[in-house]
Order: sequence, then structure tokens, then C-alpha cells
Amino acid sequence: MNESIAQHYHDRTKYDPDTIAKKSKDLDWQAQPSPYKDYRVGTSYDLKSYLSPDQQPDQDGLLIHSWRRLSRFLLLSYGLTAKVSTWDGGYHYLRSSPSAGGLYPAEVYVVSGGTPILPAGLYNYQVRTHSLVHFWDSSEVWLQLQEACFSHPILHQTRLSLVVTAVFYRSAWRYEDRAYRRVLLDSGHLLGNLEVSGALVGLRPYLIGGFGDRRLNDLLFLQPKEEGALVVAPLLETQEEMPPNPTVAIASSVTHTIPHLPDGQLLGYLHQHSEIETPSPAAPAPQNQNQDKYNLPFGSRISTKTPPIFWGDDLSELESSILKRRSTRRFSAEPLDLAELKALLDFTYQPQHYAEQGFDGAPDFFDLSLIETFVAVSAVEGLEDGCYYVAPHTQELRQVRFKNFRAELHFLCLGQELGRDAGAVVFHTADLAVAIQHYGDRAYRYLHLDAGHLGQRLNLGAIALGLGASGIAGFFDQHVNEVLGIPVDEAVLYITTIGRPD
Ligand SMILES: Cc1cc2nc3c(=O)[nH]c(=O)nc-3n(C[C@H](O)[C@H](O)[C@H](O)COP(=O)(O)O)c2cc1C
Repeated sequence: MNESIAQHYHDRTKYDPDTIAKKSKDLDWQAQPSPYKDYRVGTSYDLKSYLSPDQQPDQDGLLIHSWRRLSRFLLLSYGLTAKVSTWDGGYHYLRSSPSAGGLYPAEVYVVSGGTPILPAGLYNYQVRTHSLVHFWDSSEVWLQLQEACFSHPILHQTRLSLVVTAVFYRSAWRYEDRAYRRVLLDSGHLLGNLEVSGALVGLRPYLIGGFGDRRLNDLLFLQPKEEGALVVAPLLETQEEMPPNPTVAIASSVTHTIPHLPDGQLLGYLHQHSEIETPSPAAPAPQNQNQDKYNLPFGSRISTKTPPIFWGDDLSELESSILKRRSTRRFSAEPLDLAELKALLDFTYQPQHYAEQGFDGAPDFFDLSLIETFVAVSAVEGLEDGCYYVAPHTQELRQVRFKNFRAELHFLCLGQELGRDAGAVVFHTADLAVAIQHYGDRAYRYLHLDAGHLGQRLNLGAIALGLGASGIAGFFDQHVNEVLGIPVDEAVLYITTIGRPD
């Protein structure tokens, strides 16, 4: 019988209270993979010296400006921003973009068709040393990138693109098959950082998710069982007129007969079977794209309209928020204010309100019309406890359940205190069947990347407001819907907890 591998994967990787203990294995700490990629050959370009305004490398002004910009952009997007001691007396470095378990499966590559500072070829961002390694020197790469992206028109307008890939085992070492969800969510946070860091340095990343996987993986010399490309992000100058992104709507084959897959093979199988060989058009866009999905006849409705968060002159608060962002480890019992929750929702779901301050007012997502948002409120001054649907178009909260869920949230988040102590817990969900109908099994990538991207906007908004936030990708899937009253068709993609840091 034909079925969707994305649906199969999702069902098989649900956490369930009856089986979670039996299924979880002891971690082999000796086998933990390094979160860094090394190249034996290649020319290294230092980026650190360009971070300091005093340092004047011996180059002309325009080139220095381009180097500084690239250096700052990569640091803010994925660079090292903190160091913590480890049990064995060493250090673990944290990055500007969060990652489940701090495992950092994402890698960032730069493909240059030849720019004043980057000769044509392939580069890998070496996070540990904040440098670029030029590991392949060829003027053919741009053409090959265009071919891999099925001649996407944006690639005619620039000669510079990032590619985000994932080294699966870095996360699968710990999270096994369910790691694919986290790999995509992590990478989605990184896309959020690319978007806002781009606004700071005058670069606009476009997102291409529909590409020929084999061609792109070959171009980057990836070992496809170990590492796979997730997103191509060409960069345009923001002062140019911004063409709309002519969509990611390329579907891959949806259904086939799925063989018996033992545990441990689900991640690789889903990634491989959501690859695109030749593009086929996506199904027509869902109807009512600009309408809120759930129009509940009962419960209170609270407008989320609010003055936007002020990010400082020239977005000065944005840079500091990115650099100081950390996932909150513990929340205090103090409630949030309704005004704070509104501001956070406004920043996350109404980017157009931030264009005046210099943000991209219409940043790229793959397809936000497929994602819904619910908020479980446990402690927000001025708002009744309960679960609310976030209606992004009318900009209001619509109540679906009417009680305090602290104990249940603690349980649903696998006993994590963050879920219990948060003032508000945000759930991103999607109707998988509808998404798969539209984009094929590839939809699984787009949904989780977009949910992570939204999660990063929540994180940064929380930091700017002096609040705390942490993502949670491990939860009892089935129970979330039952307990909180989220419609059963909505598969839970991701949770973000918000509160006051302890
Ligand atoms: C997709 C995702 C899932 C996460 N899940 C959890 C979680 O379940 N529990 C938790 O305490 N932190 C979670 N985190 C936070 C990470 O542990 C944190 O990002 C990582 O330790 C790096 O620290 P930093 O965010 O302060 O840079 C998650 C982060 C991401 C991006």
C-alpha cells in the first residue's frame, strides 16, 4: 500500500509515555561526534580581524567593507558567542543560533560565482576559528548551483549564496530517529538568524528549498548518507529592489510502498525519499490562505495589536540581542504581562510592522499558511489561564480551553520544569496530510524549518523584552492535542517556552 514516508516517520517518532523509557538508550559519550568539520586542503580566510573596527587590514576601503560585512553576518548568524566548562575540564562553545542539546548539526557553506572578495568556488564557514576555508576553486560552481536549483531566477541576480546542510549523526547520536525533527528545527533557527542578521548588514537571504539534492550534494562533495543540503540561500543587496521570491513550490514524489524499516533507519530513509530528482509543480495553493484557520464560536477573543518592539536606532538592540541570546535554563514564578506577550507575538507573526525600523518586512518562509500557533497561558497578568489559538490575520487570541495547565505542561514536556514554570508555552502545529498533499514528503522539511525560524523570532523578541525563552523539541505528541484542545489534525512541530528568567 502506498503511504507517505513523512507521515510514517512522524508517527513512528512520536514520544509516548508508555514506551519512552523502554526505547531510550544509554548515551555513548565516547562516540559523541565533533560539531566541527575539518578540511585537510584549502585556503583559509580569516574573518576575526574584520570584527574589530580598529583593525585596518591592508586593503582598499570597499574590500574591507565587504569583508567586515561578511564576517559580521556569519558571526551573528552562527558564530560562537559563549563558552561553558564541561565535566572533563574542557570547554563547550555555544553559538548565536540555538541547537537541541547543543549538538549543532548544521553546517554553512558559501558558494561564490566570483565576487570582489571571494574568488569563484566553494567555502565552508569554520565556526571554531571564525574563518572561511576555500576548499574548491572553480568558476563552474555557479552554473552547477543554478542547475541544482532548476534555474531559480534569484540566482541570476547575485553571485553569492549560502547553503545550509546538516550532518545528521551529530544529532542522531543522541536523539536517534527523532533527530531529523531537531536537525530541521535547529536549521530553522539558523534561517531566522540569517534573516535578521541580513537586515543588520544589508543582505537579503532568499530561501530555496526545492533543489536537486543529488546535484547539490555532489557539488559540495558531501557524503550523502552523512550530510545533506537543506536550504540554498542566495544573498542579495538590500538596497536593490527586492524581487519577490518566486516560490519554493516544487513537490517531490509523495507516496510509495514503504518497506519494513527498523528503528534507526527512519531518519535516513525520510531524508533520502524526500529528495527531488526532477521538479514537479506543487499542488495549487490551499484556499483561504489569508484567513485564520480556526474560527471558534466560544471563548474570549483578545486583540494582539500593540505598538511594535523598539529595536533601537539602526537596530542596535538587535545586534546585542543576537549576541547575548541564551536559552533560559530556569524560569521564576513571576508572571508575564499581557503587553509583553502581545509584543512577542507581534514581532514573530507580523514582520511587516518592523519594516520601518529596518527589518525585512516580508522575510522568506517556505509556507506559513500551513503552520498554526497555539499558546498555553499559565501566568500572564491580564489574561485568563488556558489555551488560545493565535489568529495571525485578525491579530487576536481565541481561547480554546479554560484552565491552568501547569501540571499537564510539565508532563507533556517530558517532565521538564521549563514547561511547568513558563508563563506561556507556544505550540507550532500543522496538518501534515494537507502539507504533504501540497509539497509531497518534502513538506516535512519546510514545516520544521519554518517552525524553527518562527522559534528564533520568539527567542530574539523575548531577549529584547528582557524575558527568557527556550525551545523544546521533545514532547508527548499525541497528548498535547488531547490535553490542550488543539484539533487532532494538527501535528505538533515545536514548542517554545516563555517566561521570566530565574
Ligand atoms: C530545536 C531545539 C530544541 C530544544 N529542546 C530543548 C529541550 O527540550 N530542553 C531544553 O532544556 N533546551 C532545549 N533547547 C535549548 C538547547 O539546549 C540550547 O539551544 C543549547 O543548549 C545551546 O544553548 P543556547 O541556546 O543558550 O545557545 C532546544 C533548542 C532547540 C533549537
